[in-house]
Amino acid sequence: MSLLELAGVEKSFGAVQVLHGVDLKVGAGEVVGLVGDNGAGKSTLMKSITGVYPVDKGTVSFNGSDITRLDPGARREMGIEMIYQDLALAPQQDVANNIFLGREPTKRLFGLLPSFVDKTRIDLEAQEMIDRLGVHVPSIHIPVGMLSGGQQQTIAIARALTFKPKLVIMDEPTAALAVREVESVLNLIRQMQNEGISTILISHRLNDVFEACGRIVVLRRGNVIADLPRNNTDMAEVVSYIVGAHG
Ligand SMILES: Nc1ncnc2c1ncn2[C@@H]1O[C@H](COP(=O)(O)OP(=O)(O)O)[C@@H](O)[C@H]1O
Ligand SMILES: [Mg+2]
Repeated sequence: MSLLELAGVEKSFGAVQVLHGVDLKVGAGEVVGLVGDNGAGKSTLMKSITGVYPVDKGTVSFNGSDITRLDPGARREMGIEMIYQDLALAPQQDVANNIFLGREPTKRLFGLLPSFVDKTRIDLEAQEMIDRLGVHVPSIHIPVGMLSGGQQQTIAIARALTFKPKLVIMDEPTAALAVREVESVLNLIRQMQNEGISTILISHRLNDVFEACGRIVVLRRGNVIADLPRNNTDMAEVVSYIVGAHG
């Protein structure tokens, strides 16, 4: 049984059909690359998995359940996380706060006073996550806005992992990064895989896709036109599918 299974997924915006019956499977602990030209429908497809866009037709199953009609919150509870290109971090807040943004642990004094944010616990748990992932940041106490693009990307991933996901979707995580920073994001994906977490990696950088992914799926004009094991393909073939040399 696959962890994620899409069957016949269709999605239109008004009169424009963006997804034309997409079938896609992702196994537990599998890292799948999703590639395709701008406008192919990659982001729309991923938002159909997270529930941001309800599908018009077809089914989405996760961990053996039909989740087609579930809202994004319920899907997140089941273990689906997506990291968006804009990262959605709070630049003025420190690293630890960003990892727990929006769901800070609270505590009450003597059970009487109103609850307040438990900064000690935030710092402790954030440091644990940073150590577990081997993320390199100078300190969990510096504002995220002062970190490099690659460090911010790894903080966004660390944040996603605190939800204990089974599947993480990353939309162009390495697009704006320096070469060395790319390596640490790819290492993180590898480490997640060792822990049994599945990843769908959307990227224009085929080098990254070939390095991190065991399988490469090509989307073209809302159709999956190739689903290739990495060890059985090469960049020239993937490019030829992306540009539509196969029709
Ligand atoms: N919310 C939306 N409303 C209308 N059209 C959209 C919306 N989101 C995406 N589209 C259209 O769907 C097509 C696929 O977009 P997208 O999924 O973002 O592609 P990709 O991520 O592969 O570049 C594009 O033509 C885009 O203009
Ligand atoms: Mg996109």
